[in-house]
Amino acid sequence: MIDLAILGGEPVRKRPFLSSVVVDDLERQYLMEVINRKEFSRFMGSPTKDMERLLVMPSEEAEHHKNQYFSFLGGRMVRKFEAEFARKFGVPFAISVNSATSGLSAALGAAGIGPGDEVITTSMSFNATATSILLFNSIPVFVDVDQNTFCLNPAEVERAITPKTKAILVVHLLGNAADMDKIMAIAQKNNLVVVEDCAQAPGTRHKGNYVGTFGNLGVFSFQETKNITTGEGGMVITKDSVLAKKVRLIRNHGESIPDNSWDDHSLINLVGMNFRMTELTAALGVAQLAKLDENNRVRTENAHLLAAQLQELPGLKVPAYPSGVVPHVFPLIYDAHITGVGRDRILAALRAEGIPVGSGYLRLMYENPIFLRKVAYGKQHCPWSCHLYNFSRDYQPGDCPIAENLLREKFIWFYHINPPNGNADMNDVLCAFRKVFNNLDLLKKYEMDIEVPYKW
Ligand SMILES: Cc1ncc(COP(=O)(O)O)c(C=O)c1O
Repeated sequence: MIDLAILGGEPVRKRPFLSSVVVDDLERQYLMEVINRKEFSRFMGSPTKDMERLLVMPSEEAEHHKNQYFSFLGGRMVRKFEAEFARKFGVPFAISVNSATSGLSAALGAAGIGPGDEVITTSMSFNATATSILLFNSIPVFVDVDQNTFCLNPAEVERAITPKTKAILVVHLLGNAADMDKIMAIAQKNNLVVVEDCAQAPGTRHKGNYVGTFGNLGVFSFQETKNITTGEGGMVITKDSVLAKKVRLIRNHGESIPDNSWDDHSLINLVGMNFRMTELTAALGVAQLAKLDENNRVRTENAHLLAAQLQELPGLKVPAYPSGVVPHVFPLIYDAHITGVGRDRILAALRAEGIPVGSGYLRLMYENPIFLRKVAYGKQHCPWSCHLYNFSRDYQPGDCPIAENLLREKFIWFYHINPPNGNADMNDVLCAFRKVFNNLDLLKKYEMDIEVPYKW
């Protein structure tokens, strides 16, 4: 009897997995505090008397700074969120922004990266990782990923270094930690800035230390699919007061602060952005930060359960999860040579069973036409045509074969390891996988139209 859902049988799972944000009275309490105070931003973008001190003030000190009304450092809730984030990650400076995309740009801008400079980054991430490099007119150089972590392969980073290289933008993808020991050693040897994109890895540790604290700056996202969320939002962390000062300037109309006494170097990249976080967003942030450890515990438990049970199925490689990793999405590596069934047919069968699986990103970042055709700013193909960048840099399919192979043939991602999904939900996932993998012969036998795999 045929009972695979894709062949007309009953699906294993008939209700959706939950993707709504975990909230409780704490969010309401902090939001009401902001509403009752009638303070929705309180950012002030113009200089004050103690400006120099304000700009390098550690976040914990800034929380209690006497100016409680309007401040260059933002409103009271913004400063509270920053102080708590800094405490959590054990750094002196946490600077909130309106997204991780803004945060990544501000981090690179603060480090003085600009026209003519190359930034080495991974080929596989959300596109904002790459486009944040373009904001201050620098050139992304994409390298291939490690087979197991899907993060930057340090050997490829080393191979990609040129006299133009100024920074490495590391991404801790899907909650995995990149090999920060090797990457930091390469950066030190070549005098490169390191920015860590931790959008998908808040709370992940590498050898005991939080990712985001290895490089010069770390950047987090609070967009709605992340481990904690404020709808939109981000945070930049650093231990370096000079970088903190510059990030604070870039986020808050920096160009309105300097007077003629500032030298040219201090003015670099202060072109007057507004990346500020509102008090309402920060209120959600304070409440969500208190949930980070519990949310991460549930994600970890869900992912470990799936990994332990799915490893017995043919053609599936489960993630290894070294200690300290907090999974953000659950990735499997599928081998169609072992099962004889194409990856997309498996995805379609699992989706028919009610399991929202996908094949990962739509494309690698360099496969975006912005990069393939090098069209970013103006008609002149800036920044690639900039006279300061007298190099030829092309992007094409085939540049990063490991990452391409993972996306095109191997990845099966399950997204909903997030709370409130729990044990019972994961058991449905396991039942569906077992059902499909116990019926591979049926899948092989039947001609079927393959629906387009679910994309995140
Ligand atoms: C790895 C990575 N970097 C950057 C971003 C951009 O974050 P945001 O949406 O907060 O700008 C995202 C996701 O949204 C991401 O997954």
